[in-house]
Amino acid sequence: MNHFISFEGIDGCGKSTQLQLTAQWLRQKGHQVLTTRQPGGTDLGKEIRHLLLDERFSPIPETELLLFLADRTEHVKRVIQPALQRGEWVLCDRYTDSTFAYQLAARPLAEQDLLPLLHFAQLGYEPSQTMWLDLDVEQAMLRTQQREEQQNRLDKEKQSFHAAVLKGFQQRAQSHPQRMQRIDANGDSQTVQQRIRDLLI
Ligand code: TMP
Repeated sequence: MNHFISFEGIDGCGKSTQLQLTAQWLRQKGHQVLTTRQPGGTDLGKEIRHLLLDERFSPIPETELLLFLADRTEHVKRVIQPALQRGEWVLCDRYTDSTFAYQLAARPLAEQDLLPLLHFAQLGYEPSQTMWLDLDVEQAMLRTQQREEQQNRLDKEKQSFHAAVLKGFQQRAQSHPQRMQRIDANGDSQTVQQRIRDLLI
């Protein structure tokens, strides 16, 4: 069985910290673990990430989607597929559920257009498990405002955009109850981490 775990949630939910803590724990248990992210998990993907998050640009929704998928297909083929074939655990910061939440729930794109493109870009690779860090929008926006690194184009979207993204994740969790685990992202990082470990044991 593949161990391909994605970490998902709205901006500021704490998923990147939780991914790193989970990787440390799995390594201590003796597993080979690859941590990676989307967008930006390859050299080319890092450039795509800059384009996507740069405030100088405001791509139309279709362009934004295609850039995320260009990053994904490069990443799946060059990084995720080889690591899974080597038998490693892959912990990926965002994957397909982000596309449904951001590009479908929060932007005016249609599911029938998205599905064949996702199929093409992901080569059939789906996470075996997804940790969805659930936090309310006000709290999450506060966290991104307090972060040291500068807010990017998507962090700076309106509250109503982030609320639509959150709704997108809620819908995905409802339609994929086996794969998607809802993690209460309230509390300090160790408390949240314990909730994740309890699900992975
Ligand atoms: P990050 O800061 O969590 O790495 O994510 C960068 C931004 O990209 C974040 O605002 C979510 C967004 N995103 C999408 O809109 N669609 C996608 O498919 C992915 C992977 C990320």
